[in-house]
Amino acid sequence: MIRRVLERYADKPLNVMVVGAGVYVCGKGTEGYGTILPALFQAQKEGIIGGIKIAATSSSSVKILRKKIADLNKIFSFALDIESFPKNGKKDQQAYKKIIESGFRPDCAIVSVPDHFHFKIVSYLLKRNIPCLVVKPLAPTLKEVKELIKLQQKNNVYGAVEFHKRFDRSNLKLKDVLTQGSIGDPLYFLVEYSQRKSVPTKKFAQWVDHTNIFQYLGIHYVDIIYFATRAVPLRVMALGQKSYLASRGIDNYDSIQCVVEWKSKNGSKFTSSFLTNWIDSEKSSAMSDQKIKVIGTKGRYEADQKKRGISIITDEQGIEEPNPDFCGFYGSAGKEDLSFAGYGVESILQFLKDVRSIKMGKQKPADLEGRRPTFKEALVPTAVLEAANQSLEQNGAWIKINPKIWEKSNG
Ligand SMILES: NC(=O)c1ccc[n+]([C@@H]2O[C@H](COP(=O)([O-])OP(=O)(O)OC[C@H]3O[C@@H](n4cnc5c(N)ncnc54)[C@H](O)[C@@H]3O)[C@@H](O)[C@H]2O)c1
Repeated sequence: MIRRVLERYADKPLNVMVVGAGVYVCGKGTEGYGTILPALFQAQKEGIIGGIKIAATSSSSVKILRKKIADLNKIFSFALDIESFPKNGKKDQQAYKKIIESGFRPDCAIVSVPDHFHFKIVSYLLKRNIPCLVVKPLAPTLKEVKELIKLQQKNNVYGAVEFHKRFDRSNLKLKDVLTQGSIGDPLYFLVEYSQRKSVPTKKFAQWVDHTNIFQYLGIHYVDIIYFATRAVPLRVMALGQKSYLASRGIDNYDSIQCVVEWKSKNGSKFTSSFLTNWIDSEKSSAMSDQKIKVIGTKGRYEADQKKRGISIITDEQGIEEPNPDFCGFYGSAGKEDLSFAGYGVESILQFLKDVRSIKMGKQKPADLEGRRPTFKEALVPTAVLEAANQSLEQNGAWIKINPKIWEKSNG
């Protein structure tokens, strides 16, 4: 009986709140539409969500957001109704709180604000029992991540990190190959990941001082190595160079190289080397240049995740090599067959479906541990990130990671 009532109640589309209205939400400052907005359009098309409220901080962001929504409504022949805040034209860092204080009770929230605000905003939402999907990194320090896990567990509310690379088939294949043991025990991983100069100089100009290129890009593949191997990091060292950005008055690293030593469940050890930069040419053929390879005792796995087999050459844009797997629309504008697809969209849809299934009483937040990028899964990437940041401050010293972190989290 209770179950039937719950199911009827949960059949209703979810009400969603989004905090942030930048590049990742709506493609602010780019030609595109970001990733979160497209996923919301797709979720609405699939009947998963209903009301949407988006909190930004300034009227200029709201204006850009409204234009992107209008464009997408036209492309989809939709009338997706998204309420945006602040409404009064004034700057308001607290707009997300006002939405909640006005009585709106979202079924879940998606938080996509600069890294150093994640903890404050997510704590506020968890304390009100609102399930959260948070863009990576969950938080830059272990202290904050542990606090968020505690809050989430205490309130029995679902929390996940938007580690969308876990949904990329290229990485799922990597996980399969490693799990099946066909390439033996891993000995070393090599990751190269970089983006264009406009990221630190333009897109993140407001908060570039609060992040770095390892924190922004490297962390994705730290998570992927953890996801694929379930090994734990033992120690970390990182070095970086300040040249191009420094010459433009930005005191941040152009490139960071980081080495992590890991221990697998069977006791064998391996390393991973991450070579990251955000000073690629604006003329590069794709925004992201990303490659991963792993050499094992019985073979190797290599994936060029930039060159996915497509190149488009035009008089206007030159050579472009788009990633067809991340987030794009497929089908004809204005037609029924149009949909947004890709691992960026999938990771958000999965969160929404999980929230719905928890609401229906079909599963509990704890059932998703080990199956989704939950808050607990963020301990490993943030432990490596924190150690890398310490190593950078200590001229590349090796920083040991306390194994008690994993013992406690598994207890
Ligand atoms: N750009 C990407 O491709 C990408 C991909 C994955 C994850 N992320 C992550 O997403 C987060 C945001 O990145 P972005 O690229 O969208 O940055 P951005 O600078 O374009 O946008 C951040 C937005 O957050 C807003 N904001 C700040 N404080 C707020 C508050 N109190 N309430 C509401 N909004 C607030 C800012 O006004 C800004 O519009 C970062 O943690 C980043 O690591 C970005």
